[in-house]
Amino acid sequence: MQRISLKEIKPGMVLARPVLGATDGRILLPANFKLTPFYIEKISHYKCCEIYIQDSETVEKGKGFNEPILAKTRVKAYTVLHETFEQIQLEEEMAPDKIHEVVNEIVANILDNSHTLYNMFSLEMHDDYTFSHSVNVCVISTLIGSAMGYNQNELELIATGALLHDIGKVRINPEILNKPAKLTASEYAEMQNHPLYGAELIQKTESMGFLTASLALQHHEREDGSGYPYGLKSTGIHPFSKIVTVADVFDAMTAERVYKKASPPHIALKELRSHADQKYSRRVVECLMKVVVPFPIGTDIAL
Ligand SMILES: [Fe+2]
Repeated sequence: MQRISLKEIKPGMVLARPVLGATDGRILLPANFKLTPFYIEKISHYKCCEIYIQDSETVEKGKGFNEPILAKTRVKAYTVLHETFEQIQLEEEMAPDKIHEVVNEIVANILDNSHTLYNMFSLEMHDDYTFSHSVNVCVISTLIGSAMGYNQNELELIATGALLHDIGKVRINPEILNKPAKLTASEYAEMQNHPLYGAELIQKTESMGFLTASLALQHHEREDGSGYPYGLKSTGIHPFSKIVTVADVFDAMTAERVYKKASPPHIALKELRSHADQKYSRRVVECLMKVVVPFPIGTDIAL
């Protein structure tokens, strides 16, 4: 499998992974699809920077890349998140049953594929970063939790908090949220309110539970107290929040955004490890290193 840019795709190339729509999770083009000029033209209308195609080795040996969760589960998670954001915008109650159902499916997928490592899933169309980021953080957090030895029930709690960790962004002005330049001091201060907004929204839904709200509230806190909104130190931060924090930072670093290039996974891991104890729980970072592929095929490595 090779990761290539949109400019490099040519008719006849075969997709190694499906291309998903970020907003609704629809499969736009399936894996094993042979690209034609017509579909290349279609893809070029999306803000998609990288595409995974099969190379001769993949095709010859029939190698495939397993994702920790099934494509249909990922699609379902996108749909549920999309609906949840809409419900909040309309000031309706979110549907906890649907959220629990998809979270349980994600955890079950991961427990069924316990040997599968996280491979960057960066081929979504990044029309709506918050949805793809939330699902990635949910998957990475569950993988870390599983490596740390948490049981199914605990993993479901971690996964729920991880999936909804950024839900407070629904209350942030989209102009601030999607600003392609550096935020002003007041915009940054408003952005820093999203954990508080998220916890408040989750607490409104009775069956979501206090812990889920705490994970949304604490995911920007840091071990040394340098985080926000409360500047809590290590002992004041819930152990599950420390997992969501590391998954959140790793996914943010490895994502391509309008204002920054994506870091390869091995660079993101090195960066996280250099701040272990100071910013992030060392144990959590070590478990992340066990569950992600540091050098996905197609990564440029300077020797
Ligand atoms: Fe956040």
